[in-house]
Amino acid sequence: MSAVLVCILALGLTSPAAPDAGSQRGEVLSGPLQGEPHTLLSSDLSERSAGLSGQTCTALPAAESSLRNNTHPFTFKVQTLGSLSLAWVGDGSGVLLVLTTFQVPLLMMRFGQSSLYRSEDYGKTFKDVTSLINHTFIQTEFGIAVSPDHSGKVILTGDVSEIGGFRLFRSQDFGLTFVSTDLPFEPLIQMLYNPGDCNTLLTLSVMLELWLSEDFGATWRNIHDSVCLVRWGPKNNIYFTTNYNGSCKDKGMLELWKTADYGRSFQTIATRVYSFVLGGRFVFASIMTGTGTERMIHVSVDGGEVWNMAQLPTVNHEQFYSILSANQDMIFMHVDDPGDSGVGTIYVSDDRGTVFSKSLERHLYTTTGSETDFTAITSLRGVYMTSALAEDGAVETVITFDQGARWQTLRRPQNSHCDTKTSTNRPNRCRLHIHASYSTTMKMNVPMLPLSQPNAVGLILAHGSVGDAESALSPDVYVSDDGGYSWLLALRGPHHYAILDSGGLLVAVEHTTFPVNQIKFSTDEGQCWHTYNFTSDPLHFSGMDSEPGSRSMNVSLWGYRSDFSKWVVITIDFRKLLTRDCTEGDYVHWLAHSADPSGSNDGCVLGYKETFLRLRKDSVCWNGRGYGVTKKLSPCLCTPDDYHCDFGYYRPENSSDCVEQEELKGRPLEFCLNGTTEQLQTSGYRKIPGDQCEGGFQPDRKETDLRKMCTSNALYPNSLTENGSPNAAVIVMVVITILLTSAVAGVWLVKKYVCGGRFLVHRYSVMREHVEANKIEGVDDVDTHYMETGKAQYNEDSDQDLLE
Ligand SMILES: *[C@@H]1O[C@H](CO)[C@@H](O)[C@H](O)[C@H]1NC(C)=O
Ligand SMILES: *[C@@H]1O[C@H](CO)[C@@H](O)[C@H](O)[C@H]1NC(C)=O
Ligand SMILES: *[C@@H]1O[C@H](CO)[C@@H](O)[C@H](O)[C@H]1NC(C)=O
Ligand SMILES: *[C@@H]1O[C@H](CO)[C@@H](O)[C@H](O)[C@H]1NC(C)=O
Ligand SMILES: *[C@@H]1O[C@H](CO)[C@@H](O)[C@H](O)[C@H]1NC(C)=O
Ligand SMILES: *[C@@H]1O[C@H](CO)[C@@H](O)[C@H](O)[C@H]1NC(C)=O
Ligand SMILES: *[C@@H]1O[C@H](CO)[C@@H](O)[C@H](O)[C@H]1NC(C)=O
Repeated sequence: MSAVLVCILALGLTSPAAPDAGSQRGEVLSGPLQGEPHTLLSSDLSERSAGLSGQTCTALPAAESSLRNNTHPFTFKVQTLGSLSLAWVGDGSGVLLVLTTFQVPLLMMRFGQSSLYRSEDYGKTFKDVTSLINHTFIQTEFGIAVSPDHSGKVILTGDVSEIGGFRLFRSQDFGLTFVSTDLPFEPLIQMLYNPGDCNTLLTLSVMLELWLSEDFGATWRNIHDSVCLVRWGPKNNIYFTTNYNGSCKDKGMLELWKTADYGRSFQTIATRVYSFVLGGRFVFASIMTGTGTERMIHVSVDGGEVWNMAQLPTVNHEQFYSILSANQDMIFMHVDDPGDSGVGTIYVSDDRGTVFSKSLERHLYTTTGSETDFTAITSLRGVYMTSALAEDGAVETVITFDQGARWQTLRRPQNSHCDTKTSTNRPNRCRLHIHASYSTTMKMNVPMLPLSQPNAVGLILAHGSVGDAESALSPDVYVSDDGGYSWLLALRGPHHYAILDSGGLLVAVEHTTFPVNQIKFSTDEGQCWHTYNFTSDPLHFSGMDSEPGSRSMNVSLWGYRSDFSKWVVITIDFRKLLTRDCTEGDYVHWLAHSADPSGSNDGCVLGYKETFLRLRKDSVCWNGRGYGVTKKLSPCLCTPDDYHCDFGYYRPENSSDCVEQEELKGRPLEFCLNGTTEQLQTSGYRKIPGDQCEGGFQPDRKETDLRKMCTSNALYPNSLTENGSPNAAVIVMVVITILLTSAVAGVWLVKKYVCGGRFLVHRYSVMREHVEANKIEGVDDVDTHYMETGKAQYNEDSDQDLLE
């Protein structure tokens, strides 16, 4: 997993009277809500909290004065034109680097200006350190590359094309000093740190040469030519695809290579590769089938020595595979349905990544926008959330609490009512729907994706609406404190939000077209919200930022004043608000996944229960930077819930029994493993990878070696004989999904990228290689240009197929 903590806040200024302002608003606004200030009435608050916890909201004593003394405004001297990137250097160092770049677009010659600022106090004050980089222009797409090991290494890639070339500015002391080095090539992508040794860097040049440095960028060595996609693997391994003909467009004809000694020797580990991805302990490659133009997934758990064919449907040139999430035990794989349906099927793998079970059908994943709502909830084990497309075209949120074995819709929050404008007299279908990436691409007014943090146990913040499908009206902010089982309407209207102090403090700023002066905060996991006016001169708010990891108490609000001229940051330190440190008495025991306290299997998920120590909601105290999650595990007896339905079986709605699929009845289930054919004898159940249940329900399952040779060798896939159809392509990519905020008043296009890998998604995606390549850490715009290029290529391929 990438741990490069780079946040980019790119603010593209069109003009104060942007012509598209009207249309943007028209698309964003379906209701009258946006733009009006929505201060929650105190009656709302007390009613809400009384309904759920029996507690009423009381004002925090001296909040105003303690915050007033700890509010630090800072005005930058640079113009708000262009973009602004933020990068946290180190963990707990308080060092924040800010790079502003102004670039004249649409010119063949790139021209621009950059300024560099540095803060050592979590963003309260900044020093202009542009002289450290000699006023060199830093391209926005390269931005700031921070080493993932928190050792304080930083690289800026400067463009000195006027004297011919590119120059690295390298720092090993948290950006205090920089050394410059001229590059012997023109970089195509950001520098990639070896996660195992951050002195070693990789990058690709525009000529597709692979360059490596073993001394933190001081000297560079060209280790290979014609490289299409490169990734660091574990143990200093480098994986890359290459094509001898020098064209990366020839997907399906690539070779997957690996080097374990920094390019001194190489090994070809697969041929006829379309693309590859590393995820969890797996290496996946999509490989063309023998004679055909379909491709299928091959998987290796030993870094590419032995490959097995994943027992998944093949896809043609119009379809794609996407790895939605991977952990050490298993992966979630999306397989696009044929045709341009925008939906596909989620499969979950076994612990070898070879045998897959159907998990969710009609999973929304648009080909055009390449967007899915799939979200791993990091605050509770086994929880994932996504959207499915109902038969009537409605987009519905579904959630799983057991790693994809079963999915269900969300419950309606007790303190909300069905949106009568959207629900068509079906009160039994009134439930909560969460807005995520899909809504942001549909230009709905959703400034942030769902947010959860491993150290804020059970907590989820998300935008949602209540009805029988996702509503187009302005969404509200909902909070769950139990990992998605129950939800609470927390704030009306869209907001930017952040988790501080490991969940002990939540902060939010309303997302409106008007200047704001108010931040909302909650010390009880979103039940009661207090407000603080952080300035007397309201700010056009662009985004909120705090140190990744959610341990901080400092939050920075970025924006500009009405004259549009200068960047303003206001950093608020909430430390003084919480007057004491938390003690033992502030924590209570909480059984995760508890639905039925009387049942003996209550709280059992994946074979064990977890009891956490959690901060009491009414405790107003500081968890502290050193806070660690405390939990106790206890084992469970096995039940059918500890099993996925095996290959060829499915669970009918509302049933926990697995039933054989009609179309596969009576057919032997065979698959190829390590070169021999295995036959699967199953009663329909397969234990969920990572499940630790003992005793109890133990269905029969056997894999018999039929002693028949078969081929699943990724090096010689030609020997496979498969019926195929058209040819083409898919690329695998690792993307940090972003928060794409919709435009504020059409004047500002604000994009806030999530840092800290909170939304790391592994994805096979069509025709986005270069987009991805340019944006390794942090940036992932859907670039329509590349999408279109992709389509054009498909057509060429199809034509050729037709002529043959
Ligand atoms: C805030 O600062 C002022 C002046 O520095 C000081 O007099 C006052 O006591 C402080 N208030 C609090 C609540 O710390
Ligand atoms: C800074 O840039 C100027 C002009 O490009 C150059 O003459 C000078 O040597 C540079 N200084 C350093 C320290 O790189
Ligand atoms: C290279 O191109 C030639 C001619 O276009 C083709 O026959 C050959 O298969 C290609 N080789 C690879 C490895 O793509
Ligand atoms: C805070 O600002 C809001 C307007 O955003 C205003 O209505 C309110 O009176 C202010 N509160 C205080 C205490 O100044
Ligand atoms: C907030 O910032 C101050 C420096 O201004 C720092 O000393 C403090 O540790 C930060 N608080 C947290 C919880 O990170
Ligand atoms: C499943 O259960 C729900 C509620 O218990 C019910 O409304 C629905 O009709 C059931 N579906 C089937 C196929 O039985
Ligand atoms: C297949 O090969 C892998 C890696 O070499 C090995 O760990 C595994 O046990 C083998 N499986 C079988 C069924 O032989």
